Amino acid sequence: MWRIAAIPGDGIGVDVTREALKVLHLAAELDGTALQVDEWPHGAEHYLRTGLTISAEELSRLGEYDAIFLGAMGDPRVPKNEHARDILLGLRFSLDLFINLRPVRLFRAEHSPLRSVRPEDVDLVVFRENTEGVYVGMGGNFKAGTRDELAIEEDVNTWKGVERIIRAAFEYARKRGRRRVTLTDKANAMPHAGALWRRVFAAVGAEFGDIPQHAVYADALALDLVLHPDRYDVIVAPNLFGDIVSDLAAALVGGLGLAPSASIHPGGAALFEPVHGSAPDLAGTGRANPLAAILTTALLLEHLGGAIAAEAVEAAVRRALDEGTTTPDLGGQLSCGQVGDAICAALPAAFEAAAARD
Ligand code: NAD
Ligand code: IPM
Ligand code: MN
Repeated sequence: MWRIAAIPGDGIGVDVTREALKVLHLAAELDGTALQVDEWPHGAEHYLRTGLTISAEELSRLGEYDAIFLGAMGDPRVPKNEHARDILLGLRFSLDLFINLRPVRLFRAEHSPLRSVRPEDVDLVVFRENTEGVYVGMGGNFKAGTRDELAIEEDVNTWKGVERIIRAAFEYARKRGRRRVTLTDKANAMPHAGALWRRVFAAVGAEFGDIPQHAVYADALALDLVLHPDRYDVIVAPNLFGDIVSDLAAALVGGLGLAPSASIHPGGAALFEPVHGSAPDLAGTGRANPLAAILTTALLLEHLGGAIAAEAVEAAVRRALDEGTTTPDLGGQLSCGQVGDAICAALPAAFEAAAARD
């Protein structure tokens, strides 16, 4: 039995979660595993209606599920984004989901805005630190609203926090036979945090001496990812740089409509969410690409031990992309729901094929 909490959230989060859950239900059925999905109402609408974002008790109850699936948080009616902070960052922080794993793969060359790039050139995984950095919300405003205003946003980096994400990146690289691990930071401009990250990277890296490892400044990485994406494999980054790099990398392979993400505490709770946000420009139009959310369910299934189901979902996505069964962002003409239906239609055969390979 798999017990999942689903939080569709806001905007296209609702549309893509609907498709992801269709796929998840079918995948569980093919796997022969009972699936319970509890839908949670949290998001902008719930906040505007009740004045409540999410409570500490609810966060901890969410942590008891086998996994949480979240669509997206963000609504123009909540311009300060406080509900997203409380819910999305609240889950990451309170459940200590320190690994934010964001795989980026080019399925088809024509989806990339890069000239003459081949699918095998872009296949990387961002390991984003997910519980520290500038995201902790420490700081404040002094003389707010005056021309003398001062704002401080602290960047928090602990040895423990840095070590565990770097170790996770190396362990992943070893387990998956990855070619190299790249640390990205701004040690040239931010020497205190930078020194810690570099020292820990060297110390942990020494335990993985067989894996090539190097450090690249985040600005240079932004440039080089566009020019030479094939040079990158596992990228480990502080929270903010990881956020930026993962959107940039997603753009190389067709955009946010194809970018899945998992926030994990090994042995503990796990939250699965597409990299994209609520895309207010697409909300309610049926034009949202559900494949990021569907690829996110593949990560979820793999996490739950449904390796064959996960492989089948990926194969069904690959097939949809090969056949041009896509939403407008990838040049197709289908709606969010039609793409979800196409994945479901392809899933049984994909599952059989994956099971036969196993
Ligand atoms: P966004 O990811 O929502 O959208 C960026 C661009 O990508 C837009 O042009 C959008 O149309 C496009 N896009 C995103 N997802 C797509 C999809 N599935 N299919 C096709 N096109 C897609 O980022 P934004 O516009 O900066 O943010 C909108 C809101 O979402 C903000 O409130 C932001 O804070 C929030 N946000 C939430 C999350 C999350 O919940 N995990 C992530 C990022 C942004
Ligand atoms: C993401 C988003 C969030 C982040 C926002 C909505 C706070 O951009 O999940 O990538 O910055 O982590
Ligand atoms: Mn982001």
